[in-house]
Amino acid sequence: MTDRKTGQSGKLRESLRDESPLHAKERAWSGRFAEPVAQFVLNYTASVGFDQRLAHADIQASLAHASMLAAAGVLSAEELARIEQGLAQVLTEIEAGTFQWQVALEDVHLNVEARLTELAGDAGKRLHTARSRNDQVATDLRLYLRGEVDRLLEEIDAVQRSLVELAAAHSGTVMPGYTHLQVAQPVTFGHHLLAYVEMLERDRERLVDARGRMNRLPLGSAALAGTTFPIDRERVARDLKFEAVCQNSIDAVSDRDFAIELCAAGALLMAHLSRLAEELVLWLSPGFGFIQLPDRFTTGSSIMPQKRNPDVAELARGKTGRVIGHLVALLTLIKGQPLAYNKDNQEDKEPVFDTIDTLHATLRAFAEMVPGIRVDHEAMRRAALQGHSTATDLADYLVRRGVAFRDAHEAVARAVRRADELGCALADLPLQELQALAPQIGEGVFKVLTLEGSVAARDHVGGTAPAQVAAQVRRWQKTLEQRAALTPGPSPATA
Ligand code: ARG
Repeated sequence: MTDRKTGQSGKLRESLRDESPLHAKERAWSGRFAEPVAQFVLNYTASVGFDQRLAHADIQASLAHASMLAAAGVLSAEELARIEQGLAQVLTEIEAGTFQWQVALEDVHLNVEARLTELAGDAGKRLHTARSRNDQVATDLRLYLRGEVDRLLEEIDAVQRSLVELAAAHSGTVMPGYTHLQVAQPVTFGHHLLAYVEMLERDRERLVDARGRMNRLPLGSAALAGTTFPIDRERVARDLKFEAVCQNSIDAVSDRDFAIELCAAGALLMAHLSRLAEELVLWLSPGFGFIQLPDRFTTGSSIMPQKRNPDVAELARGKTGRVIGHLVALLTLIKGQPLAYNKDNQEDKEPVFDTIDTLHATLRAFAEMVPGIRVDHEAMRRAALQGHSTATDLADYLVRRGVAFRDAHEAVARAVRRADELGCALADLPLQELQALAPQIGEGVFKVLTLEGSVAARDHVGGTAPAQVAAQVRRWQKTLEQRAALTPGPSPATA
């Protein structure tokens, strides 16, 4: 297709009328070509099967473009009115599912424009003045993704809220904390859960940050060099709620970094969720038995009647792979592309759309699943009592009594060995045994060696003490409440 941007509007109108690239029959056999495009080429190059979902953004952007053209005197008031009515009708048909999408029309942009022209006649053919599909698709994609980011932010909030509420109920519930998946030190379950709230918060920050760079208007860049018409890009930007206009037309039509950033933030978000997913799988397995999930989140086995499988968590873990794959696909897509627009970029859509869909579904799954978690306090306690998890507390106790940490570490290592020889826990060693290893040890040591004493002693910002967890829960509750109160309405593309 061509982008015509020459001459005064009167003259241009003639040429547009003569050379409209937009009708299905003309497209396959346009004036430039000596034979129709082969059917397989049409199928191979068409994106309408998947870029339909940009229709809403496409229409929003077209409305803003048309209104600007009318204000600039490029379109008449009557033409603008016809375009507005026509696009409203197109939207109605799309939403009603009666719109006839045509592969021969290649993509969402040409489909919408062709139907508009059927409805609005000549005015429809004038809409593409001062525009190219290159700046159009870049604009549509930014608009669409911006709306999706806003939804993702709310969905992240929902998962955070569910984690914070569970943490509130378990600020003092003791579980084993692990390093190398070996019992390391006791922690509180609330503290463990809030670790994910922190991760999700950084994921949120990355999305907000990416949104800012995405929120700039490419329209007006036309094919790559700009346009000869007296356009008002600031006006279009304001209309579409973009924060600024892209400052270089060649960059604006060719880069897809905004989509890549979204996938990168999404891949990291999925990686975080996959860690929680993996922990749910572990905690649900009988060897741990820390939690239970309502049946609606688990599935049975077709052969083993006793099984209850945590499929949702496993799939969340597995789907992380596809999102990471999409990020790599997009990076590979842009790598080495000469400026400016190349058709390669049409391949940006399926990966980024699938990323968005996967994120929505996975965030929703966690927001619903986390409140259903039932904790087996006893199982957590039993596991925390294994592996001498309060050994570090004994070492710290000795340090407080004047022993150098390295020496304390060595004394406790010997105490652990002695406990293993006697087949008992560190806390069950007789006082004399302990004193034989370190004479500084007194009666009070046994309080230090309890799980509750251990967690309560880590009483500083970032520590696992129940008092600290309760304070963090309050901080998060306040933050999330304020956020919910501030949440703006949906942005234009999803309105
Ligand atoms: N469907 C195309 C895409 O997604 C729209 C842009 C086409 N531009 C072009 N010069 N063929 O990238």
